[in-house]
Amino acid sequence: MGKPSMKQLNIWITGASSGIGKACALTLAGAGHRILASARSQAPLDALADEAQGLTGNVSTLPCDVTDVESVAHCVQWMSEHWRGLDVVIPNAGIGYFDPLESAKLQEWRAMVDVNVAGVLNTLHATLPMLLTSKGHVVNIGSLAARQVFPNSGIYCATKHAVLAISESLRTEFKGRLAITTLNPGAVNTPFIDRTTNDDLRANYRPQFDVGMAPEYVAEAALFAVESRGKGIVSELTIRPDTRY
Ligand SMILES: NC(=O)c1ccc[n+]([C@@H]2O[C@H](COP(=O)([O-])OP(=O)(O)OC[C@H]3O[C@@H](n4cnc5c(N)ncnc54)[C@H](OP(=O)(O)O)[C@@H]3O)[C@@H](O)[C@H]2O)c1
Repeated sequence: MGKPSMKQLNIWITGASSGIGKACALTLAGAGHRILASARSQAPLDALADEAQGLTGNVSTLPCDVTDVESVAHCVQWMSEHWRGLDVVIPNAGIGYFDPLESAKLQEWRAMVDVNVAGVLNTLHATLPMLLTSKGHVVNIGSLAARQVFPNSGIYCATKHAVLAISESLRTEFKGRLAITTLNPGAVNTPFIDRTTNDDLRANYRPQFDVGMAPEYVAEAALFAVESRGKGIVSELTIRPDTRY
């Protein structure tokens, strides 16, 4: 007997114009799933849609700022009109500014909290009704920083600790009704660090990200998690760079 074919899942990924989110969109669409990829910038979303042409699944795109409740609601409206349901949400949009606490800029702390915590909450609050209907799956993007605190990125670590706590809270309250996964990657080679405005730290950290994991590797972990339905639930997965090479 052949392996039963996987149901085509409706998956919304935020922050999908770059890095891990983009890789998730391409990998999950490549596995046959239906993706809504969103981020603030339209041009890279258009490029992503072009890149996804010919994959087994498909990628639709819609601009969305996760800090803006109306913008998030617009995506939810799109999904209820075009899909009539949602199986998986990946609230991946996230930013980091590295700086010692003593010289940090308050607006950068606030921006991290706005995107990494409030943005995740906006996304989850808006999608929970659809996910509960589908007995769906939340794949939160934590970080090693969800479990450890590093110098020069303490507030980023605080936001990722919050993401993990949000996951655990969902897992506790929606037991048997939703699947909850937190992926905790170490350094991934994406433009993530380039946002840091502290020139010395940006230059110092960039090489660590250059030798970090490919975003496609994290996307493979997301695929494994979402395709585990009926077999088991990946509740938390730590993924570290293989430093042997
Ligand atoms: N890179 C790493 O080493 C690493 C490790 C562990 C965890 N992570 C986490 O992985 C996630 C993705 O990071 P990445 O490394 O892929 O970084 P990235 O390449 O810089 O991508 C960040 C994405 O978030 C989007 N974004 C930023 N602000 C947004 C907002 N207000 N609303 C909607 N989208 C927004 C960006 O697009 P726009 O600017 O166009 O909106 C972009 O698509 C983040 O949650 C990050 O904390 C990264």
